[in-house]
Amino acid sequence: TIMSSMAIAQFEPNYDETKVPEFSVPDPLTSYSGTKIENEKAWSKVRRPELLAFFENEVYGKVPGNLDDISFKLIEENTNAFNGTAHRKQVQVTLEKDKKSLSFTILMYLPKTTEKVPLFLGLNFYGNHTTTSDENVIVTSAWSMNNEDFGIDNNTPTEKSRGVRINRWDITNIIASGMGLATIYYGELDPDKNDFSDGLHQLFYEPGQEKPKADEWGSIAAWAFGLSRAMDYLVQDSAVGKVIVFGHSRLGKAALWAGAMDDRFAAVISNDSGCGGAALSKRRFGETVGRINESFPHWFCDNFNAYNNNEEALPIDQHQLLALMAPRPLYVASAQEDEWADPKGEFLSAHYATAVYRLFGKTGIDTIEMPEVNTPIQNTVAYHIRTGKHDVTDYDWKQYIKWVKKVME
Ligand code: GCU
Repeated sequence: TIMSSMAIAQFEPNYDETKVPEFSVPDPLTSYSGTKIENEKAWSKVRRPELLAFFENEVYGKVPGNLDDISFKLIEENTNAFNGTAHRKQVQVTLEKDKKSLSFTILMYLPKTTEKVPLFLGLNFYGNHTTTSDENVIVTSAWSMNNEDFGIDNNTPTEKSRGVRINRWDITNIIASGMGLATIYYGELDPDKNDFSDGLHQLFYEPGQEKPKADEWGSIAAWAFGLSRAMDYLVQDSAVGKVIVFGHSRLGKAALWAGAMDDRFAAVISNDSGCGGAALSKRRFGETVGRINESFPHWFCDNFNAYNNNEEALPIDQHQLLALMAPRPLYVASAQEDEWADPKGEFLSAHYATAVYRLFGKTGIDTIEMPEVNTPIQNTVAYHIRTGKHDVTDYDWKQYIKWVKKVME
Protein backbone atom coordinates (compact mmCIF):
# COMPACT_ATOMS: atom_id res chain seq x y z
CA THR A 1 0.00 0.00 0.00
CA ILE A 2 1.04 3.65 -0.30
CA MET A 3 1.08 4.00 3.49
CA SER A 4 3.53 1.17 3.97
CA SER A 5 5.90 2.33 1.27
CA MET A 6 5.86 5.79 2.90
CA ALA A 7 6.69 4.22 6.24
CA ILE A 8 9.61 2.40 4.64
CA ALA A 9 10.85 5.58 2.99
CA GLN A 10 10.72 7.42 6.32
CA PHE A 11 12.62 4.80 8.31
CA GLU A 12 15.96 6.10 9.56
CA PRO A 13 18.04 3.35 11.10
CA ASN A 14 19.88 4.31 14.26
CA TYR A 15 23.63 3.72 14.08
CA ASP A 16 24.46 5.82 17.11
CA GLU A 17 25.36 3.80 20.20
CA THR A 18 24.36 6.71 22.49
CA LYS A 19 20.82 6.57 21.07
CA VAL A 20 20.27 2.90 21.89
CA PRO A 21 17.28 2.85 24.25
CA GLU A 22 17.75 1.71 27.83
CA PHE A 23 16.24 -1.68 28.38
CA SER A 24 16.54 -4.62 30.70
CA VAL A 25 17.68 -7.86 29.14
CA PRO A 26 15.06 -10.54 29.86
CA ASP A 27 16.69 -13.11 32.14
CA PRO A 28 16.96 -16.50 30.46
CA LEU A 29 17.16 -18.06 33.93
CA THR A 30 13.95 -16.68 35.45
CA SER A 31 10.73 -18.31 34.28
CA TYR A 32 7.64 -16.25 33.40
CA SER A 33 6.18 -17.20 36.77
CA GLY A 34 9.30 -15.89 38.54
CA THR A 35 11.01 -19.21 39.31
CA LYS A 36 14.82 -19.09 39.32
CA ILE A 37 16.22 -21.71 36.95
CA GLU A 38 19.18 -23.25 38.75
CA ASN A 39 19.96 -26.46 36.95
CA GLU A 40 19.81 -28.27 33.62
CA LYS A 41 16.64 -30.07 34.56
CA ALA A 42 14.66 -26.93 35.40
CA TRP A 43 15.93 -25.35 32.19
CA SER A 44 14.87 -28.32 30.07
CA LYS A 45 11.54 -28.98 31.80
CA VAL A 46 10.31 -25.45 32.57
CA ARG A 47 12.17 -22.61 30.96
CA ARG A 48 13.20 -23.95 27.58
CA PRO A 49 9.67 -25.09 26.61
CA GLU A 50 8.07 -21.76 27.55
CA LEU A 51 10.67 -19.78 25.60
CA LEU A 52 10.40 -22.08 22.60
CA ALA A 53 6.60 -21.70 22.70
CA PHE A 54 6.88 -17.92 22.66
CA PHE A 55 9.17 -17.90 19.64
CA GLU A 56 6.92 -20.42 17.96
CA ASN A 57 3.61 -18.63 18.56
CA GLU A 58 4.69 -14.99 18.44
CA VAL A 59 7.82 -14.73 16.30
CA TYR A 60 8.42 -17.39 13.63
CA GLY A 61 5.04 -19.15 13.69
CA LYS A 62 4.23 -22.80 14.04
CA VAL A 63 4.07 -25.56 11.47
CA PRO A 64 0.36 -26.31 11.16
CA GLY A 65 0.45 -30.09 10.81
CA ASN A 66 2.34 -33.20 9.89
CA LEU A 67 3.38 -34.53 6.52
CA ASP A 68 1.75 -37.68 5.22
CA ASP A 69 4.98 -38.90 3.71
CA ILE A 70 8.60 -38.07 2.99
CA SER A 71 10.80 -39.93 0.50
CA PHE A 72 14.37 -39.66 -0.73
CA LYS A 73 15.82 -40.42 -4.12
CA LEU A 74 19.47 -40.33 -5.11
CA ILE A 75 19.16 -38.68 -8.51
CA GLU A 76 22.87 -38.23 -9.30
CA GLU A 77 26.21 -39.16 -7.82
CA ASN A 78 29.88 -39.32 -8.65
CA THR A 79 32.50 -40.80 -6.36
CA ASN A 80 35.26 -38.90 -8.10
CA ALA A 81 33.97 -35.33 -8.15
CA PHE A 82 35.42 -31.95 -7.34
CA ASN A 83 38.75 -32.56 -9.11
CA GLY A 84 38.81 -36.08 -7.79
CA THR A 85 38.67 -35.01 -4.15
CA ALA A 86 35.05 -35.66 -3.25
CA HIS A 87 31.97 -37.79 -3.50
CA ARG A 88 29.09 -35.76 -4.92
CA LYS A 89 25.46 -36.70 -4.36
CA GLN A 90 22.26 -34.99 -5.39
CA VAL A 91 19.33 -36.26 -3.40
CA GLN A 92 15.75 -35.36 -4.15
CA VAL A 93 13.49 -35.08 -1.12
CA THR A 94 9.75 -35.30 -1.76
CA LEU A 95 7.21 -34.21 0.83
CA GLU A 96 3.59 -35.25 0.57
CA LYS A 97 0.49 -33.93 2.25
CA ASP A 98 -3.18 -34.29 1.32
CA LYS A 99 -2.28 -35.50 -2.20
CA LYS A 100 -0.10 -32.42 -2.77
CA SER A 101 3.65 -32.67 -3.00
CA LEU A 102 6.81 -30.57 -2.99
CA SER A 103 10.35 -31.64 -3.89
CA PHE A 104 13.74 -30.10 -3.24
CA THR A 105 17.27 -31.21 -3.99
CA ILE A 106 20.16 -31.57 -1.56
CA LEU A 107 23.60 -31.15 -3.13
CA MET A 108 26.30 -32.91 -1.12
CA TYR A 109 30.08 -33.07 -1.29
CA LEU A 110 31.73 -35.58 1.01
CA PRO A 111 35.41 -36.28 1.46
CA LYS A 112 36.56 -39.66 0.18
CA THR A 113 36.60 -41.75 3.31
CA THR A 114 34.68 -44.70 4.64
CA GLU A 115 34.22 -42.98 8.00
CA LYS A 116 31.25 -40.85 8.94
CA VAL A 117 32.14 -37.19 8.53
CA PRO A 118 30.87 -34.02 10.20
CA LEU A 119 28.84 -32.06 7.71
CA PHE A 120 27.80 -28.42 7.30
CA LEU A 121 24.22 -28.03 6.11
CA GLY A 122 23.15 -24.65 4.79
CA LEU A 123 20.60 -23.07 2.51
CA ASN A 124 21.77 -21.00 -0.46
CA PHE A 125 20.22 -17.90 -2.07
CA TYR A 126 20.35 -18.55 -5.84
CA GLY A 127 20.43 -22.31 -6.46
CA ASN A 128 22.80 -25.21 -5.77
CA HIS A 129 24.45 -24.65 -9.14
CA THR A 130 25.61 -21.19 -8.01
CA THR A 131 27.67 -22.59 -5.11
CA THR A 132 30.23 -24.35 -7.34
CA SER A 133 31.45 -24.33 -10.93
CA ASP A 134 30.90 -28.11 -11.06
CA GLU A 135 28.96 -28.63 -14.31
CA ASN A 136 27.10 -31.64 -13.01
CA VAL A 137 25.13 -29.74 -10.44
CA ILE A 138 21.50 -29.53 -11.50
CA VAL A 139 20.20 -26.02 -12.27
CA THR A 140 17.11 -25.35 -10.19
CA SER A 141 13.83 -24.67 -11.94
CA ALA A 142 12.30 -22.96 -8.92
CA TRP A 143 11.40 -19.26 -8.73
CA SER A 144 14.41 -17.06 -8.04
CA MET A 145 15.00 -13.43 -7.25
CA ASN A 146 16.24 -11.60 -10.32
CA ASN A 147 19.87 -10.55 -10.25
CA GLU A 148 21.44 -8.62 -13.08
CA ASP A 149 25.00 -9.41 -11.98
CA PHE A 150 24.20 -13.11 -11.98
CA GLY A 151 22.29 -13.04 -15.27
CA ILE A 152 19.04 -14.10 -13.62
CA ASP A 153 15.94 -12.53 -15.14
CA ASN A 154 12.30 -13.60 -15.48
CA ASN A 155 12.83 -15.12 -12.03
CA THR A 156 14.38 -18.10 -13.80
CA PRO A 157 17.93 -19.31 -13.12
CA THR A 158 19.86 -20.71 -16.08
CA GLU A 159 23.38 -21.97 -16.89
CA LYS A 160 24.48 -18.32 -16.79
CA SER A 161 24.43 -18.28 -13.00
CA ARG A 162 26.49 -21.44 -12.53
CA GLY A 163 29.26 -20.76 -10.02
CA VAL A 164 28.33 -17.13 -9.34
CA ARG A 165 28.37 -17.71 -5.58
CA ILE A 166 31.46 -19.95 -5.22
CA ASN A 167 33.01 -17.21 -3.10
CA ARG A 168 30.48 -17.96 -0.34
CA TRP A 169 31.07 -21.71 -0.17
CA ASP A 170 34.62 -22.78 0.61
CA ILE A 171 34.03 -26.36 -0.51
CA THR A 172 37.75 -26.94 -1.20
CA ASN A 173 38.76 -26.32 2.41
CA ILE A 174 35.73 -28.03 3.88
CA ILE A 175 36.63 -31.20 1.98
CA ALA A 176 40.35 -30.84 2.69
CA SER A 177 39.59 -30.64 6.41
CA GLY A 178 37.72 -33.94 6.29
CA MET A 179 34.25 -32.48 6.50
CA GLY A 180 31.29 -32.48 4.15
CA LEU A 181 28.87 -29.88 2.83
CA ALA A 182 25.19 -30.18 2.01
CA THR A 183 23.27 -27.29 0.52
CA ILE A 184 19.73 -26.64 -0.67
CA TYR A 185 18.25 -23.78 -2.66
CA TYR A 186 15.85 -22.00 -0.27
CA GLY A 187 13.50 -21.06 -3.12
CA GLU A 188 12.67 -24.74 -3.58
CA LEU A 189 11.26 -24.70 -0.03
CA ASP A 190 9.47 -21.39 -0.17
CA PRO A 191 10.01 -18.62 -2.73
CA ASP A 192 11.14 -15.47 -0.93
CA LYS A 193 8.21 -13.22 -1.75
CA ASN A 194 5.09 -12.08 0.00
CA ASP A 195 2.92 -14.74 -1.57
CA PHE A 196 1.57 -17.61 0.44
CA SER A 197 0.06 -19.50 -2.48
CA ASP A 198 3.27 -21.37 -3.19
CA GLY A 199 6.06 -23.28 -1.47
CA LEU A 200 5.64 -25.21 1.74
CA HIS A 201 2.77 -23.16 3.15
CA GLN A 202 0.12 -24.24 0.66
CA LEU A 203 0.95 -27.89 1.31
CA PHE A 204 -0.56 -27.58 4.77
CA TYR A 205 -3.66 -25.48 4.10
CA GLU A 206 -7.05 -26.61 5.23
CA PRO A 207 -9.61 -26.50 2.39
CA GLY A 208 -10.26 -22.85 1.49
CA GLN A 209 -7.29 -21.51 3.48
CA GLU A 210 -5.18 -18.96 1.55
CA LYS A 211 -2.66 -17.79 4.05
CA PRO A 212 -1.22 -18.93 7.37
CA LYS A 213 -3.15 -18.01 10.54
CA ALA A 214 -1.69 -15.34 12.84
CA ASP A 215 0.32 -17.88 14.84
CA GLU A 216 1.30 -20.01 11.85
CA TRP A 217 4.62 -20.02 10.07
CA GLY A 218 6.16 -17.39 7.86
CA SER A 219 8.91 -18.09 5.37
CA ILE A 220 11.76 -18.29 7.92
CA ALA A 221 9.97 -21.12 9.70
CA ALA A 222 9.32 -22.80 6.34
CA TRP A 223 13.01 -22.65 5.43
CA ALA A 224 13.85 -24.04 8.88
CA PHE A 225 11.32 -26.85 8.36
CA GLY A 226 13.09 -27.66 5.08
CA LEU A 227 16.40 -27.93 6.93
CA SER A 228 14.81 -30.44 9.29
CA ARG A 229 13.45 -32.48 6.40
CA ALA A 230 16.94 -32.52 4.92
CA MET A 231 18.05 -33.77 8.34
CA ASP A 232 15.53 -36.62 8.04
CA TYR A 233 17.57 -37.71 5.05
CA LEU A 234 21.01 -37.01 6.53
CA VAL A 235 20.46 -39.07 9.70
CA GLN A 236 20.05 -42.18 7.58
CA ASP A 237 22.96 -41.53 5.20
CA SER A 238 25.76 -43.79 6.45
CA ALA A 239 28.45 -41.34 5.27
CA VAL A 240 27.18 -38.51 7.48
CA GLY A 241 28.12 -37.92 11.12
CA LYS A 242 27.30 -34.81 13.10
CA VAL A 243 25.43 -32.10 11.23
CA ILE A 244 26.20 -28.44 11.81
CA VAL A 245 23.45 -26.19 10.52
CA PHE A 246 24.77 -22.98 9.01
CA GLY A 247 23.20 -19.90 7.46
CA HIS A 248 23.94 -16.37 6.34
CA SER A 249 21.68 -13.41 6.94
CA ARG A 250 17.99 -14.30 6.43
CA LEU A 251 19.17 -17.88 6.06
CA GLY A 252 21.10 -17.47 9.32
CA LYS A 253 17.79 -16.58 10.96
CA ALA A 254 16.41 -19.81 9.45
CA ALA A 255 19.42 -21.83 10.68
CA LEU A 256 18.93 -20.53 14.23
CA TRP A 257 15.24 -21.36 14.21
CA ALA A 258 15.99 -24.82 12.79
CA GLY A 259 18.58 -25.39 15.52
CA ALA A 260 16.11 -24.29 18.20
CA MET A 261 13.32 -26.55 16.94
CA ASP A 262 15.35 -29.63 16.09
CA ASP A 263 18.03 -30.89 18.46
CA ARG A 264 19.33 -33.38 15.91
CA PHE A 265 21.43 -30.45 14.67
CA ALA A 266 24.63 -30.97 16.64
CA ALA A 267 25.77 -27.35 16.30
CA VAL A 268 24.50 -24.09 14.86
CA ILE A 269 26.26 -21.26 13.01
CA SER A 270 24.74 -17.81 12.51
CA ASN A 271 26.64 -15.75 9.95
CA ASP A 272 25.53 -12.09 10.00
CA SER A 273 21.93 -13.06 10.84
CA GLY A 274 21.01 -9.69 12.35
CA CYS A 275 17.47 -8.63 13.23
CA GLY A 276 15.19 -11.59 13.95
CA GLY A 277 18.35 -13.73 14.08
CA ALA A 278 21.13 -13.33 16.62
CA ALA A 279 20.85 -9.55 17.21
CA LEU A 280 19.02 -8.21 20.26
CA SER A 281 15.76 -6.57 19.10
CA LYS A 282 15.48 -4.23 22.07
CA ARG A 283 18.60 -2.30 21.03
CA ARG A 284 16.80 -1.02 17.94
CA PHE A 285 20.17 -0.57 16.23
CA GLY A 286 20.16 -0.86 12.43
CA GLU A 287 17.23 -2.96 11.27
CA THR A 288 14.29 -3.08 13.71
CA VAL A 289 11.31 -5.36 14.23
CA GLY A 290 8.97 -2.78 12.68
CA ARG A 291 11.19 -2.31 9.68
CA ILE A 292 11.77 -6.02 9.03
CA ASN A 293 8.03 -6.79 9.24
CA GLU A 294 7.32 -3.90 6.91
CA SER A 295 9.89 -4.86 4.27
CA PHE A 296 9.45 -8.63 4.56
CA PRO A 297 5.85 -9.20 5.66
CA HIS A 298 6.14 -12.91 4.85
CA TRP A 299 9.17 -13.78 7.01
CA PHE A 300 7.63 -13.98 10.49
CA CYS A 301 4.16 -14.91 11.72
CA ASP A 302 1.52 -12.17 11.81
CA ASN A 303 1.58 -12.11 15.62
CA PHE A 304 5.10 -10.65 15.51
CA ASN A 305 3.64 -7.38 14.19
CA ALA A 306 2.46 -6.62 17.75
CA TYR A 307 6.08 -5.64 18.48
CA ASN A 308 6.60 -3.23 15.58
CA ASN A 309 8.10 -0.08 17.13
CA ASN A 310 7.18 -1.72 20.42
CA GLU A 311 10.20 -3.85 21.23
CA GLU A 312 9.95 -2.97 24.91
CA ALA A 313 6.78 -5.07 25.06
CA LEU A 314 8.67 -8.22 24.04
CA PRO A 315 8.97 -10.54 27.05
CA ILE A 316 11.92 -12.20 25.32
CA ASP A 317 14.88 -11.20 23.22
CA GLN A 318 17.04 -13.01 20.71
CA HIS A 319 19.67 -14.15 23.25
CA GLN A 320 16.97 -16.50 24.46
CA LEU A 321 16.64 -17.93 20.98
CA LEU A 322 20.40 -18.56 21.09
CA ALA A 323 20.04 -20.15 24.53
CA LEU A 324 17.65 -22.73 23.05
CA MET A 325 20.71 -24.33 21.38
CA ALA A 326 22.34 -25.10 24.74
CA PRO A 327 24.37 -27.18 25.40
CA ARG A 328 25.10 -27.65 21.70
CA PRO A 329 27.94 -25.61 20.18
CA LEU A 330 26.81 -22.26 18.78
CA TYR A 331 28.81 -19.77 16.68
CA VAL A 332 27.66 -16.20 16.13
CA ALA A 333 29.62 -14.22 13.54
CA SER A 334 29.40 -10.56 12.51
CA ALA A 335 31.07 -8.31 9.98
CA GLN A 336 32.44 -4.89 10.84
CA GLU A 337 30.73 -3.04 8.00
CA ASP A 338 27.42 -4.84 8.53
CA GLU A 339 25.89 -2.25 10.85
CA TRP A 340 22.40 -3.02 9.56
CA ALA A 341 22.70 -6.40 11.34
CA ASP A 342 23.99 -4.78 14.57
CA PRO A 343 27.27 -6.60 15.30
CA LYS A 344 27.25 -5.45 18.92
CA GLY A 345 23.70 -6.72 19.39
CA GLU A 346 24.79 -10.07 17.96
CA PHE A 347 27.78 -10.18 20.30
CA LEU A 348 25.77 -9.26 23.42
CA SER A 349 23.20 -11.87 22.51
CA ALA A 350 25.90 -14.58 22.52
CA HIS A 351 27.16 -13.18 25.82
CA TYR A 352 23.72 -13.23 27.50
CA ALA A 353 22.96 -16.72 26.16
CA THR A 354 26.12 -17.98 27.86
CA ALA A 355 24.35 -18.05 31.26
CA VAL A 356 22.37 -21.06 30.05
CA TYR A 357 25.46 -22.82 28.73
CA ARG A 358 27.05 -22.43 32.18
CA LEU A 359 24.23 -24.50 33.68
CA PHE A 360 25.47 -27.32 31.49
CA GLY A 361 29.11 -26.74 32.48
CA LYS A 362 29.93 -25.30 29.06
CA THR A 363 31.91 -22.17 28.32
CA GLY A 364 30.84 -19.32 26.11
CA ILE A 365 31.30 -15.58 25.90
CA ASP A 366 32.03 -14.39 29.44
CA THR A 367 33.21 -10.90 28.60
CA ILE A 368 30.80 -8.08 27.88
CA GLU A 369 33.52 -6.28 25.87
CA MET A 370 33.49 -7.02 22.16
CA PRO A 371 36.70 -8.61 20.91
CA GLU A 372 38.90 -6.82 18.39
CA VAL A 373 38.11 -7.49 14.74
CA ASN A 374 39.50 -10.76 13.38
CA THR A 375 40.07 -12.07 16.93
CA PRO A 376 37.62 -14.93 17.42
CA ILE A 377 36.56 -16.25 20.82
CA GLN A 378 35.98 -19.95 20.29
CA ASN A 379 34.33 -21.77 23.17
CA THR A 380 31.17 -23.88 23.05
CA VAL A 381 29.60 -20.51 22.33
CA ALA A 382 31.86 -18.73 19.85
CA TYR A 383 31.92 -15.26 18.37
CA HIS A 384 33.91 -13.28 15.85
CA ILE A 385 33.65 -9.98 14.09
CA ARG A 386 35.72 -9.84 10.93
CA THR A 387 36.66 -6.92 8.75
CA GLY A 388 34.53 -6.40 5.68
CA LYS A 389 30.94 -6.46 4.56
CA HIS A 390 27.75 -8.46 4.97
CA ASP A 391 28.91 -11.69 3.30
CA VAL A 392 30.31 -15.17 3.87
CA THR A 393 34.05 -15.22 3.31
CA ASP A 394 36.88 -17.75 3.39
CA TYR A 395 37.86 -16.17 6.71
CA ASP A 396 34.47 -17.13 8.15
CA TRP A 397 34.76 -20.73 6.89
CA LYS A 398 38.29 -21.02 8.23
CA GLN A 399 37.03 -20.11 11.71
CA TYR A 400 34.04 -22.46 11.53
CA ILE A 401 36.20 -25.40 10.49
CA LYS A 402 38.72 -24.71 13.24
CA TRP A 403 35.99 -24.35 15.84
CA VAL A 404 34.18 -27.53 14.83
CA LYS A 405 37.45 -29.41 15.24
CA LYS A 406 38.04 -27.76 18.61
CA VAL A 407 34.65 -28.20 20.23
CA MET A 408 33.21 -31.25 18.48
CA GLU A 409 35.97 -33.77 17.91
C1 GCU B 1 18.01 -7.58 4.23
C2 GCU B 1 17.22 -7.76 5.49
C3 GCU B 1 18.00 -8.53 6.55
C4 GCU B 1 18.53 -9.81 5.96
C5 GCU B 1 19.31 -9.50 4.70
C6 GCU B 1 19.83 -10.73 3.96
O1 GCU B 1 19.08 -6.72 4.47
O2 GCU B 1 16.83 -6.50 5.96
O3 GCU B 1 17.17 -8.85 7.66
O4 GCU B 1 19.30 -10.51 6.90
O5 GCU B 1 18.49 -8.81 3.80
O6 GCU B 1 19.21 -11.79 3.99
O7 GCU B 1 20.87 -10.58 3.28
